[in-house]
Amino acid sequence: MISTKVATRGPTASTRAAAQILKSYRSSAGLRPTFIIAQHVQPARTGQRSFSSSDSPKVKEFFVQKQTDKVRKTPAAWSHPAYTEEQMNAVTVAHREAKTFSDKAALLAVKFMRWGLDTATGYRHEKAVALNEKDPEAARRKYAMTEEKYMIRNVFLESIAGVPGMVAGMLRHLHSMRRMKRDNGWIETLLEESYNERMHLLVFLKMQRPGRFMRFMVLAAQGVWCNFMFFAYLVSPRMVHRLVGYLEEEAVYTYTRQIKDLDAGLLPKWEKLQAPEIAVDYWKMPEGHRSMRDLLLYIRADESKHREVNHTFGNLDQKEDPNPFVSEYRDPEKPHPTKGLAYPKPTGWERHEII
Ligand SMILES: [Fe+2]
Ligand SMILES: [Fe+2]
Repeated sequence: MISTKVATRGPTASTRAAAQILKSYRSSAGLRPTFIIAQHVQPARTGQRSFSSSDSPKVKEFFVQKQTDKVRKTPAAWSHPAYTEEQMNAVTVAHREAKTFSDKAALLAVKFMRWGLDTATGYRHEKAVALNEKDPEAARRKYAMTEEKYMIRNVFLESIAGVPGMVAGMLRHLHSMRRMKRDNGWIETLLEESYNERMHLLVFLKMQRPGRFMRFMVLAAQGVWCNFMFFAYLVSPRMVHRLVGYLEEEAVYTYTRQIKDLDAGLLPKWEKLQAPEIAVDYWKMPEGHRSMRDLLLYIRADESKHREVNHTFGNLDQKEDPNPFVSEYRDPEKPHPTKGLAYPKPTGWERHEII
């Protein structure tokens, strides 16, 4: 894994190092980094922050929790299922083999999207590994993944990920009313997935002030991606679920890489970083388990669930089958799909196993 390493010998060294990162970041990504960590990092004794690439010394709070004369707090309408640490650590990178023509088309579409995202965020893993073998210093200069680059990647990924569930849920809702038929419980899981993805996005946006380019990308994601999803889901919902399953495989891979880089000491700015309050509230993160690493574990676990849900939905009869993730089973002792991580199935449940 290649990333920029920052020495933390003191305020001067860290300021210089942060400036170097800022310089390389600006030249490689062409974006304005505004990584907000002041709320988490104590200022150094000289009055300077140890790590901050924010242009302004004043940190702007985005989307502050609404309070009115009468309302104190508005908790999440969908409460998050509890994950144990063991379950989150057990999440692994996985790939479902593309067997049918529609599976292959979905995989190709995700590979194309991954290429676009890689280009936008300077994430060239294979090329970086190859160059690293020949010239490690050149590889570090050219392909180093920094906290800011990862954060941009996460924002792009999450802004895209929050769309399909909402579009699919809306279309199934309209279909149910139009045809006067029951939906068999799919809508809620799909809407909850898009809600969960939006929470991921909001958490990252709490930590990274979006620049104009990023705002444009989020807007483009909605304008193009949302319309594409709408028509694609009308034509082939099964293929869209497979596509989302493959997209979620990428998400698990990306967050696994970030956790590995963090553990390897390649992302020093994240080592002491604490999860923002919105994340602590949503995942009910226990005291002492609210670090950036913990946050990445929670998010990766969510992505693994989306991967399982969408690969499973892609295996089912779209019109007749019940949603296996909210169903009650005749034999509850037998492993079956659940909302949490009790019985993980990274490549999805086959129809004959559950219906
Ligand atoms: Fe996500
Ligand atoms: Fe996801």
